[in-house]
Amino acid sequence: MIQIENLRKSFQNTEVLKGISLTVNDGEIYGIIGQSGAGKSTLLRCINGLESFDSGTLTVDGKSVDVKNKAELRLIQKRMGMIFQSFNLLERLDVYENVALPMRFWGIDRKKPENREKIMNLLRLVGLEEKLKSKPRELSGGQKQRVAIARALVLDPDFLLCDEATSALDPEITKGILALLQRINSELGITVIVVTHQMEVVKQICGRVAFISDGRVLSEGKPEELFIKPAAPEIKSFLRDESELLPKVGTNVRLYFTGEGSEAPVVTEMARELGRDFSICWAKLEDFRENVYGSLVLNVKDEDLDDVASFLNRNGVSWEVIGK
Ligand SMILES: Nc1ncnc2c1ncn2[C@@H]1O[C@H](COP(=O)(O)OP(=O)(O)OP(=O)(O)O)[C@@H](O)[C@H]1O
Ligand SMILES: [Mg+2]
Repeated sequence: MIQIENLRKSFQNTEVLKGISLTVNDGEIYGIIGQSGAGKSTLLRCINGLESFDSGTLTVDGKSVDVKNKAELRLIQKRMGMIFQSFNLLERLDVYENVALPMRFWGIDRKKPENREKIMNLLRLVGLEEKLKSKPRELSGGQKQRVAIARALVLDPDFLLCDEATSALDPEITKGILALLQRINSELGITVIVVTHQMEVVKQICGRVAFISDGRVLSEGKPEELFIKPAAPEIKSFLRDESELLPKVGTNVRLYFTGEGSEAPVVTEMARELGRDFSICWAKLEDFRENVYGSLVLNVKDEDLDDVASFLNRNGVSWEVIGK
């Protein structure tokens, strides 16, 4: 388990992390999402000991990490495998040797039969056993990331930290990498932390997520909660669909739904009960692992708003007026 409390970090005189608190539980896939420059990578580097911080605490499995203690930081790093957007493979080494690199770094004999077997097992896990003699330049982006994943697992880490691991990949390849991260999480029991600016990534694999903006955690919870009730305006604007072009007349009301298809009956019932017509301006369904969540925007006449509001409240529908 990783616990962070009130963590602060400045570069020169600029504070980049402004009192971050969050908890990553064992065995989960935890997302850290937010806009560019929010401090996500810096936070991840603090978690794995690549970066020190100014104040606050980082606790790993109940033990507070002393950022001044280099030996301790190295041990923390060993327990945390890390992958990046840019893969960071060594061009002069083949796939096998790239995966073996952390062993060399730690003075572990990579040629010992059990270590060879471990590397081969990892190459099989990521589906690259045929490519062990290839050089990175002979691989696709998705394959390079698979090598990086195998390398990150070679020292049996308890945590796998991913910084924008799929940002450079196309959607189809991204799906494959995300499925692999899920397998690593469920089959090897490794806790995964995913830093991303892609909501798709969070929706597909994360059980919980922290939304970071300007060095602060604005929200922490299940991804669907973030989507259904995005509390802070920063989260709303981050999630907003660019295609959302709403009427300038009347009042636009956004409704949030859980469950497949539950929105249609509410709108038709409301039309029937109130004896009025509504135009649906915009609607979207979102897939969150096993559940579907929807949001739709109705345009209502200004004078109808009170009736609509009381109908929605009576029926327990989450809603808000937008664009006013
Ligand atoms: N080594 C550094 N020295 C000075 N400033 C830094 C350093 N690293 C990061 N920063 C600054 O800290 C802020 C947060 O950067 P960070 O890389 O953590 O953001 P991010 O959320 O990962 O963004 P992105 O989505 O673009 O990767 C930025 O304003 C950045 O310029
Ligand atoms: Mg980053």
